[in-house]
Amino acid sequence: MISDSDIDGAVAILRSGGLVAFPTETVYGLGADASSADGVGRIYAAKGRPADHPVIVHVADAVQVANWASDIPEAAHRLARRLWPGPLTLVLRRARGVGDFVTGGQDTVAVRVPSHPVAQQLLRRFGGGIAAPSANRFGRVSATTAAHVREEFGPAVGCVLDGGAADVGIESTIVDLSGGKPRLLRPGAITAQAIEDAAGEPLGAVDLHAPRAPGTLAAHYAPGTPLVLAEGDLVRELAASLARQGKKVAALAFSQARPLDPGLVWIAAARDAAQYAHDLYANLRRLDAAGCDMLIVERPPQAPEWAAVNDRLARAAAGASPADDV
Ligand code: TXA
Ligand code: MG
Repeated sequence: MISDSDIDGAVAILRSGGLVAFPTETVYGLGADASSADGVGRIYAAKGRPADHPVIVHVADAVQVANWASDIPEAAHRLARRLWPGPLTLVLRRARGVGDFVTGGQDTVAVRVPSHPVAQQLLRRFGGGIAAPSANRFGRVSATTAAHVREEFGPAVGCVLDGGAADVGIESTIVDLSGGKPRLLRPGAITAQAIEDAAGEPLGAVDLHAPRAPGTLAAHYAPGTPLVLAEGDLVRELAASLARQGKKVAALAFSQARPLDPGLVWIAAARDAAQYAHDLYANLRRLDAAGCDMLIVERPPQAPEWAAVNDRLARAAAGASPADDV
């Protein structure tokens, strides 16, 4: 699907300070040379992202982390050995010379070794670090296919490497190790338990002075249509009552039994947490595209394997309120 010459073309764009969107196992990234202020500046401009929001540096293997981070604690090495390449980002103290344009001016840097074969090919051929946030406009739903990336940016991002639908479907788990003790900044497919097992120590509490992660803003990952979360059967009741008020409703629910209300858009969600996460952003985009007045999402179970999905849905619900539309 992706040829060597596609990768060569992408590398040439990165070397000239341009943008390349590429697949990772979590979501698509919008990449630039992490050592180029101009390149990284183009990411911020394309996303409409405030300049003080740091980006993740992607590298081909853990050995390269030493180019970006310093004072790496033993727990970070353990996590790297067990969970990289994979959907895990580590926040570490930054090495001398790492630009403020990558770290948002903080004294820490986020690094990740992705496992997607196209990301790996690109990183190996490029040789350096690729700064890449999720390939979506700021605050919006992440892109899990090349088509989503094109929808987000149109001609502003000329090079989109198509590696198919992202396996995991939601962004990486972020663990902050800059204070020595691991702390979970963003839940992801790698659960808190898996982090504790691999690190060999319990996760510390996240304090309010922890490095700021915009993915942790209440309003994030939001579709354009207002979104509410509802429990079980209330999805149907709410949908029916809104329909009676003449509102057009789209729902993402676990039941395959679609209610008969005319005009109701109904997506039956996967009951498996990993599959649900895989489908989540594509489903939110489909719901959003249905031109409805309200999106209703059935609240998934409150279980550890659903933690990352519940986190994203809560933020989507907070962000999709018109009052918060910034
Ligand atoms: O799965 C992912 O992590 C994807 C793929 C492309 O790798 N990337 C991604 O990037 O989700 P982004 O920029 O959308 O989210 C990265 C999060 C942001 O919330 C950012 O604030 C946080 O990582 N972050 C980056 N550097 C940080 C730092 N030094 N300290 C704390 N948080 C940081
Ligand atoms: Mg993002």
